[in-house]
Amino acid sequence: MLAVTGNRVASAVARLGAENAFQVLARARALEAQGRRVVHMEIGEPDFDTPKHIKRAAVEALDAGDTHYLPSAGLGELRAGVAEYAGRFRHIEPGYSAENVVITPGAKPAIWNTLCALLDPGDEFVYFDPAYPAYASAASYLQAKTVAIPLREERDWRMDLGELERRVSDRTKLLVINSPHNPTGGVLQAEDLERIAALAQRHDFLVLADEIYSRNFYLDREYLSIAALPGMRERTIVVDGFSKAYAMTGWRLGYALMPKALADVVTLFNNNTFSCVAGFVQRAGIAALQGPDEPVRAMNATFRERRDRIVAGLNRIAGLSCTLPEGAFYAFPNVSRITQDDRALATFLLEHAGVACTSGSAFGKAGGSYLRFSYAASLDDIDWALDAIANALPAFKG
Ligand SMILES: Cc1ncc(COP(=O)(O)O)c(C=O)c1O
Repeated sequence: MLAVTGNRVASAVARLGAENAFQVLARARALEAQGRRVVHMEIGEPDFDTPKHIKRAAVEALDAGDTHYLPSAGLGELRAGVAEYAGRFRHIEPGYSAENVVITPGAKPAIWNTLCALLDPGDEFVYFDPAYPAYASAASYLQAKTVAIPLREERDWRMDLGELERRVSDRTKLLVINSPHNPTGGVLQAEDLERIAALAQRHDFLVLADEIYSRNFYLDREYLSIAALPGMRERTIVVDGFSKAYAMTGWRLGYALMPKALADVVTLFNNNTFSCVAGFVQRAGIAALQGPDEPVRAMNATFRERRDRIVAGLNRIAGLSCTLPEGAFYAFPNVSRITQDDRALATFLLEHAGVACTSGSAFGKAGGSYLRFSYAASLDDIDWALDAIANALPAFKG
């Protein structure tokens, strides 16, 4: 029998990244097991329970025996429901149909499988820094040439479009955008989307628009998707899912919308990896889309209140400054007046203040002067964490 040891692992593994939040979570749980109080602000998941009507649909599906293999692209009824919802929510004309939809176990595999479907070694892949780590991890694994454009705090975390214009070219195959943005909470404005769309058409590249936080949105205007702009429906892959909007992170249910020819290839990758998403989970997704929208709005209103509380509180702590996030559920304070080592500070806050957060550099080099706090925590926990940070910080030697 072959011994499975570290040195037999494929060299390509070295190109994979990882979500640091899961590693922080493991340490936080270990501290809790020792009896310590920890406020969890490391992981990006709503702390609300999944709405009842959604859970009921899954239970009913289980009772009805919905426990077997299904088509790799997803249940026709869910694909049609997603096409209708996604097109209506984003005002996309002509609308999507079921054949444009690929159902995946969470948005993350939709990103991985879409990148697998599109990127050859050497293809130019443009993304933003800081960013959700899954994009660069998949692109690097696939040996694409990755180009990172720094996002700037002084531009409310939107990219410098002049810089983007200089860095994309006819060699660019795919650009990723993510609005509202993890980890900064920044939201792209209409003029950003229009200029990106013009560049995509001039240089003939595709855009993967990660819109997983499209329902975690605090501006008093409608959500804007690049896919709704003229000429963009056919060159945009919209990634979305149920995790953040419906508090369904653990269910693993996401999707992507794209031209049919590409959807067929992404489905082939589904076929080769997870085969299909569990039927009772897909039934829950149908219930989420068909049921009342009120729970989504109520969760968003609560997030907004928490956002205001944590941002005001962070700005009151000496040495920290924090912009107001316009979407998602992360506060991303600047810590450069305290330290040049964001990782050490994140570790210190967990070990000495009982506050679990993520270092900004876990999202890329440009995140190096920041920490990310997920405000998927109650107002009481937020207040407790703010006090704990303020009390612990003077002892930090950074
Ligand atoms: C920007 C972004 N995209 C995608 C995902 C993946 O979400 P899912 O739970 O649906 O896989 C996350 C999760 O944190 C995210 O922050």
